[in-house]
Amino acid sequence: MIYLDNAATSFPKPPQVYRAMDEFFRHRAANPGRAGYRLSTEAEREVEGTRKILADLFGASEPERMIFTLNATDAINMALKGLLREGDHVVTSDLEHNSVTRPLRGLEKRGAISVTRVNASQEGILDPQAVKQAVGPQTRLIVITHASNVLGTIQPIKEIGRLAREKGLVFMVDAAQSAGVWPISVEDDLIDLLAFTGHKGLFGPPGTGGLYVGKRAEILPWREGGTGTDSESPIHPEEMPFRLEGGTPNFLGITGLKTGAEFISKTGMDNIRHHGRQLLMAILNGIKGDDRFILYGPSEPSDTKDRLPIVSLNIKGLEPSVAGGILDETYGIAARSGLHCAPLTHQCIGSFPQGTLRISPGYFNTEDDISQLTSALKEIASSVNAAAK
Ligand code: ALA
Repeated sequence: MIYLDNAATSFPKPPQVYRAMDEFFRHRAANPGRAGYRLSTEAEREVEGTRKILADLFGASEPERMIFTLNATDAINMALKGLLREGDHVVTSDLEHNSVTRPLRGLEKRGAISVTRVNASQEGILDPQAVKQAVGPQTRLIVITHASNVLGTIQPIKEIGRLAREKGLVFMVDAAQSAGVWPISVEDDLIDLLAFTGHKGLFGPPGTGGLYVGKRAEILPWREGGTGTDSESPIHPEEMPFRLEGGTPNFLGITGLKTGAEFISKTGMDNIRHHGRQLLMAILNGIKGDDRFILYGPSEPSDTKDRLPIVSLNIKGLEPSVAGGILDETYGIAARSGLHCAPLTHQCIGSFPQGTLRISPGYFNTEDDISQLTSALKEIASSVNAAAK
């Protein structure tokens, strides 16, 4: 089987992630920070060590501002619902995943907030000037994805961060696709809230993720309870990270996440990105100039500089779900078809409502995998043409 759905979740994980989780769960999995015995304090060190590694990875000088969450959706909901107040206006884009679009729509529908969605170009890139023009007197937040999960295009977050700061707004970035793969510095990029998942580019298990909460963002906790600290107080503590982390954390998952992040530092994020770019170019070169395909987003292999290895395409005359089914059943290739939980992006690129076939190679894919993929796609396209004659 050739797995090409790493934008949905990275698979396989580096072998050390499986080993570390197995060893920790069998021998060391006490509840972190809830007791004074050695096993519990060691588990706490594991959690705090992970917080520090993630803070370093994302250029944050205060690790206690790195909050563990279940995934990016959990982090985004925590941020939006904890930050926004009655009457606020939010600027966002049509490149967002439903994890941003749906909570905003929910708040909008209840009449609590208003939202402006800035359109990206058909290639899937936002213009910071258009974002600037959408800001109004009631705007409190700009929330933008770092990389489109449909096209892989990287957005100009630094420019948007600068304009948010100039206008005194909170700036939130959804780094679900880019965390671990593309450099991010919350301090240099002027990001107040950074949401990420652990199970994609960071090579952690599902059920892990995080939210960085900068000093300029005041988030009300929605989950209060045990923290292992100040237990005599009936009131949930104010200090970070406890303020936003009631309840036993997913410490097994956090161990896996730590090992995934360590794998990235050992391998080098540049090397991971370079490998992804090679595979991306191999896909684009493999089908370039073949008019049986529709390629979405930037289609020139030379335009891969600011892009993750994610390609959306369609075979003319074939529904993407059918193409995905043939790839799986006939060729043993796994790729995701449809709307990828980002319907507005498909409206922007002209592939709504059927969506696209999305190919997303990962660090463990090879050029040979891509050449098998492009041959399979061409065979499928030929059979569609033959059937049409
Ligand atoms: N958000 C994930 C994707 O893009 C699941 O496929």
